[in-house]
Amino acid sequence: MEQYAVCGGNPLVGEVEIGGAKNAALPILAASLMSDETVLIENMPDVRDTNILLDAMKGIGVHVERTDRHSVKINASQVHHLTVEGDGVKKIRASYYFLGALLGKYKSATVVLPGGCDIGCRAIDQHIKGFKALGASVQIAHGMITAQADRLTGSHIYLDVVSVGATINIMMAAVLAEGRTTIENAAKEPHVVDLANFLNSMGANIKGAGTDVIRIRGVNRLHATEYTIIPDQIEAGTFMFAAAVTKGDVTVKNVIPKHLESISAKLVEIGCEVQESDDAVRVVASRPLRHTHVKTLPYPGFPTDMQPQIAVALGLSTGTSIVTESIFENRFRYVDELIRMGASIKVEGNTAIIDGVSRYTGASINAPDLRAGAALVIAALAAEGVSTVDDIRYIERGYEDFHLKLKGLGAQIEKVETERELQKFRLKIG
Ligand code: EPZ
Repeated sequence: MEQYAVCGGNPLVGEVEIGGAKNAALPILAASLMSDETVLIENMPDVRDTNILLDAMKGIGVHVERTDRHSVKINASQVHHLTVEGDGVKKIRASYYFLGALLGKYKSATVVLPGGCDIGCRAIDQHIKGFKALGASVQIAHGMITAQADRLTGSHIYLDVVSVGATINIMMAAVLAEGRTTIENAAKEPHVVDLANFLNSMGANIKGAGTDVIRIRGVNRLHATEYTIIPDQIEAGTFMFAAAVTKGDVTVKNVIPKHLESISAKLVEIGCEVQESDDAVRVVASRPLRHTHVKTLPYPGFPTDMQPQIAVALGLSTGTSIVTESIFENRFRYVDELIRMGASIKVEGNTAIIDGVSRYTGASINAPDLRAGAALVIAALAAEGVSTVDDIRYIERGYEDFHLKLKGLGAQIEKVETERELQKFRLKIG
């Protein structure tokens, strides 16, 4: 089984290029099948989740042509199935975006009920409420969810919780519905805005994305487009915290600094220097890290997808920090692993109380999910000695060439598959 072998202790120094946002790419891919004309998508991250979605699209008759590693041409004029199933899609959350896209275009969709990272109960009641408000009937049976309608008509939908997925799904279904739809209490994440911009570039009429009221006027059809996906806010944030934790000096390039503001603000609070330019952010960590408190919130609050990374940094800061997770109920599964590396953390409900320690020590650890996995790799990079990180398939769901990018910053990290390769790594680092 593949794992990362990591030898900690090197400050990360240099520049790293950030790729396209996974959580924008996933709905944009699904939405691309809403046109019968060819759509070109650029800055597509080459990660497991996007590749699973592309395979699923091929499975229902979408023509997919990768013109280079990060560009893909999609033509969905020959879709022959309105059911999306299979082991791959079952494992990823974003498969439910086919519901909104297929329902919007064909007025019918059946999708295997979504899996995804095990970070707590992940309800879809708000998606269903939205589809029903647009006139669809929704049934769940045998692990599949079906949404169908004779016609979709615009509606006024007030979301009970701020949900990225529900906002996106309802937006997709409403784009080709008759009349006007208003989504209130909508999610404001950069990837919600990116999807709206993408749909608008295909001829949709969406206003207000990025605020909590999104207004959609239905159109008859969507046309061809060429579109570049925004940079990945969470990949960038992960490298920014990697700089902090390893006492490094890292410039993340090809980013939108505005999307990183809540992350930059916390880094400054804990004692890092953060310098912003047009499309780059430099993080310099030359002083000891200080404690702080943080609560995850929908955008523009501190992202839940950065919660494990900041906890790893706070674990090495002076004093006591409190991390409150307000989005998902089970997002502290990495804490036991971090404790095995020497951290002092107590979890009570949705709160982690972290007493900073002066060092982590290398250990054999498991990645429990995507972001926690990346955070544990960062902890290993700061730790004394060698660590191995198992279950890196989770990390590969959302980070392209993670270990290669870290290596480019001076990290001692290799992907190894056998005991022999691990021994070779140990010999190499001496
Ligand atoms: C998206 O998940 C992201 N996934 C997650 O990123 C991210 O953590 C999350 O948004 C929050 O920012 C993708 O974009 C593919 P939500 P999503 O619907 O859409 C509750 C990563 O690491 N809720 O905004 O599933 C839900 O239980 C992943 O890249 C309902 O109650 O999240 C949660 O508590 C992990 N009913 C809260 O809302 C619903 O119908 C926010 O969930 C929908 C959601």
